[in-house]
Amino acid sequence: MTNPPESNAELQQTVRRNLWMHFTRMSAYTDSDVPVIVRGSGPYVFDNHGRRYLDGLSGLFVSQVGHGRTEIDAARRQASELAYFPLWSYAHPQAIELAERLADLAPGDLNRVFFTTSGSEAVESAWKLAKQYFKMCGQPERYKVLSRDIAYHGTSMGALAITGLADIKYPFEPLPPGGIRVPNTNFYRAPDFVADDITDFGRWAADEIERAILREGPASVAAVFLEPVQNSGGCFPPPPGYFARVREICDTYGVLLVSDEVICAFGRLGHYFGSARYGYQPDIITFAKGVTSGYSPLGGMLVRDAIMEPFTRGTATFLHGVTFAGHPVSAAVALANLDVFEKEDLLGNVRAHEASFRATLEKLYDLPIVGDIRGDGYFYGIEMVKDKNTRATFSDDESERLLRGFLSTALFDAGLVCRADDRGDPVIQLAPPLICGQEHFDEIERILREVLTEAWQRI
Ligand SMILES: Cc1ncc(COP(=O)(O)O)c(C=O)c1O
Repeated sequence: MTNPPESNAELQQTVRRNLWMHFTRMSAYTDSDVPVIVRGSGPYVFDNHGRRYLDGLSGLFVSQVGHGRTEIDAARRQASELAYFPLWSYAHPQAIELAERLADLAPGDLNRVFFTTSGSEAVESAWKLAKQYFKMCGQPERYKVLSRDIAYHGTSMGALAITGLADIKYPFEPLPPGGIRVPNTNFYRAPDFVADDITDFGRWAADEIERAILREGPASVAAVFLEPVQNSGGCFPPPPGYFARVREICDTYGVLLVSDEVICAFGRLGHYFGSARYGYQPDIITFAKGVTSGYSPLGGMLVRDAIMEPFTRGTATFLHGVTFAGHPVSAAVALANLDVFEKEDLLGNVRAHEASFRATLEKLYDLPIVGDIRGDGYFYGIEMVKDKNTRATFSDDESERLLRGFLSTALFDAGLVCRADDRGDPVIQLAPPLICGQEHFDEIERILREVLTEAWQRI
């Protein structure tokens, strides 16, 4: 066994030699240090130099209850009682109790929980379930899935086929067939003919789902995958009436509505589930991240009774599973995490403060680079533009210099963890822990103001 390296120089050397970070240009760290985060407390994290950062992204949309909670010591207790047993033909009390609790919290008759370890696995599982379900119901041609432009639904091959980001798909093609794109709900970039009225825009965007189903052939479409608020592209909330119309379309053509709530569940939008906030009933909800606030990995899908029904008869079996799904330690941690939600009324905190979060961010509209501020709950995107009046965006080269060359590092150096992203148009994304209040919003606004002002001068 080797001792962990202690000095920063040793850590950096070992990172360069042995660690492969995800979605990371490793060359960016040839001549500069990789940030090493060593501990967290509440909404703050600390690096190995002792510097403090406000975690404005909850790690990666994960740390709902904040960092360093000693109440969530369920992992240690559970590991000593039963560290592992599979959910293949067996159950354990933690998975049973968590399934019941999630079913109670979920909207409508979403009563069946199929656990996974991650969001990608949850999405992958939902597509596989939709395919097998329709085969069992005598509709074997239904295999296609609709999802929105620029939406991110994970990285495994199936989840990637559902993802709408061409750049991250290309190296892995050919992907499983059947992933079809429909427009997203970015009203700031709405086509001219619906740009004046958000309700018309929402109606058009939902109707595009119907048009895609008709184009593909209704008998070939299994499911539509939609996030309550689309993350990738910079937080696109649903226009009024959008989900009601989508539900209607899904019912008309017998297509399953999958609400991918890997980010939007567990308080991010002030409700346990994002679908509850916008008042629609999905057939399947996929979740991960906030269910444990990251104190242990866990994901899963919640499924309507009616979809489970064919699997309850005779020899029927959902032919799918993963070793660590519903891991006892993770399930125990999720229960403890939900206890914190209840005890501290975190949903209430988000609902009480979301308007002031928005208002604080909206102060940034006086900066010339800030084009659009959008989102709901504790989930916001700020789109940066070259010209506020025309909404002109940056060229690829400018975006590269702005985001990777300056903003990402400058925001971090100024003490804010957030995400500067150009998978759609350039945006900064914020999703702070649900324990945050006005002092944290002010800190976020102050740092963004300083750094965005400098960014504008550099363009
Ligand atoms: C909406 C959505 N679906 C799926 C995923 C994939 O989750 P994971 O990274 O846990 O595999 C993510 C990850 O951010 C996501 O945002």
